[in-house]
Amino acid sequence: MQVSLTVNGEEVVREIEARLLLVHFLRDVLGLTGTHWGCDTSNCGTCVVWLDGRPVKSCTVLTAMAGGHEVRTVEDLARNGELDPVQRGFIECHGLQCGFCTPGMMMTARALLDANPDPTPDEIRTAISGQICRCTGYATIVRSVRWAAAYEAGGAP
Ligand code: FES
Ligand code: FES
Repeated sequence: MQVSLTVNGEEVVREIEARLLLVHFLRDVLGLTGTHWGCDTSNCGTCVVWLDGRPVKSCTVLTAMAGGHEVRTVEDLARNGELDPVQRGFIECHGLQCGFCTPGMMMTARALLDANPDPTPDEIRTAISGQICRCTGYATIVRSVRWAAAYEAGGAP
């Protein structure tokens, strides 16, 4: 079947198998390997991308279901050569170790800050509760998102 969707602001039209999951479409068809694939059981959240502005686990979405919609991946976070504040926060506060969970965490964090520019640590933990980090123990991830919030508010992080 043919599918047409927007990915990171560009229209994409491809022939696909109807059963193709969005995570595999992004990685294997478009080569956008920033979106990771960790479990296939909807548990780890490393595959999170945006679908029409909302974070979704792309291993639970058929590519066909994304037809006519807008997908945003981690490759679109940095713009005009500038890292997104969330990306900077993860660097400043050591929000990653192996980095496997990081793309999904950052996409969720970006959506959270767009909806709630000053989230509490508990609100951050709730936002990322569908995602697993095997390395950092979450404290530095929460700190990273708080850093981005403070930066965007113009304060000294
Ligand atoms: S790969 Fe999608 S939730 Fe783990
Ligand atoms: S940094 Fe390794 S899984 Fe999160």
